[in-house]
Amino acid sequence: MVELSVNIKEQDKKYPIFIESFTLSDLKEKILSFCSGEKFVVVFSEKVFQLYGKDFNFDKSCVFILKDGEKEKNIKNYEKIMEFCLKKGLTRKDSLIAIGGGVCGDLTGFVASTYMRGIDFIQVPTTLLADVDSSVGGKTGIDSSFGKNLIGSFYQPKAVFINTDFLNTLDDRQFKTGLGEILKYGFIEKSCCCEEDFNLLNFLQEKKDEIFLRDKKTLSFIIESCVNLKKSVVEKDEKESGLRRVLNFGHTYGHAIENFTNYRKFTHGEAVVEGILFSFNLSLKKNLIDENYCFLARDILKKYGFSPLGTFPKEKILNIMKKDKKNDGKNFIFVLPVGFSKVDVQPVNSFSLFE
Ligand code: GLY
Repeated sequence: MVELSVNIKEQDKKYPIFIESFTLSDLKEKILSFCSGEKFVVVFSEKVFQLYGKDFNFDKSCVFILKDGEKEKNIKNYEKIMEFCLKKGLTRKDSLIAIGGGVCGDLTGFVASTYMRGIDFIQVPTTLLADVDSSVGGKTGIDSSFGKNLIGSFYQPKAVFINTDFLNTLDDRQFKTGLGEILKYGFIEKSCCCEEDFNLLNFLQEKKDEIFLRDKKTLSFIIESCVNLKKSVVEKDEKESGLRRVLNFGHTYGHAIENFTNYRKFTHGEAVVEGILFSFNLSLKKNLIDENYCFLARDILKKYGFSPLGTFPKEKILNIMKKDKKNDGKNFIFVLPVGFSKVDVQPVNSFSLFE
């Protein structure tokens, strides 16, 4: 078993991340060993509950089932889970457990961070995207018609359990969306200030076949590398005042595409890859990278099955991006490639975005 530890120095807080091919009974026992109170509520993503609910065998009265899809990450479901916890009589000593993808983890984490001003929260990601990104680092929140994740908090989990066996039943589209976020790590690795060198972009170029065959060893290496990169960034900048912004590579434009299409048409990873392509084109126009690197990036994304999603109305996308919480008031804050596996955070004015 791989065990990593995230150290949030400012809060003197530390939590473990376990990466393992768990049996469900073992996983359940380990999760419960982190629940210190008498009660807990488990929020399951619907699909995951259908596949694994019986084997987990949690008491029905403590299970809340959340429908799948980004559109479910909303204030109504926040209220429903809150009321479920209140009815169940959860106290400050009790815990919330999220078993599902990013939507389930973000929403449940936000409930945990505000229920009685904060109770323990355990993340059990079940998708590749949640394994490598959303389950680690403490970003929680919900979407609104104004934009993605505009309501939320930084709230670190008590523990994260990444069970690589869940990937066996993940559908191809969700698997691919996780690969989108993994490719992002490949493009930003050198800017993550991580002591270890994973050479992720080269690895992803070489091991595409093994990855698509979902080879356990290869996927475990990738998950561990991405979690290490994220850990390195989050430990240095939990609240995104500087370094953590590199993790948003592809996200400013990607979030706008998700919002424009009502969170229904594209997956998060597909939209992020569209944002990555947009950023590469912008960097090329600004002479921050040479053509060879831009071609290489487009080529890798294509090999992983990502192609441009279409054309979008510039004015509308601009207006959505204006509401992005990462902006500084005057400029858009964009994470742009500046070299192999290297990015930089740059202010960009609206005129140079689509010129
Ligand atoms: N997904 C970006 C972050 O956690 O900062």
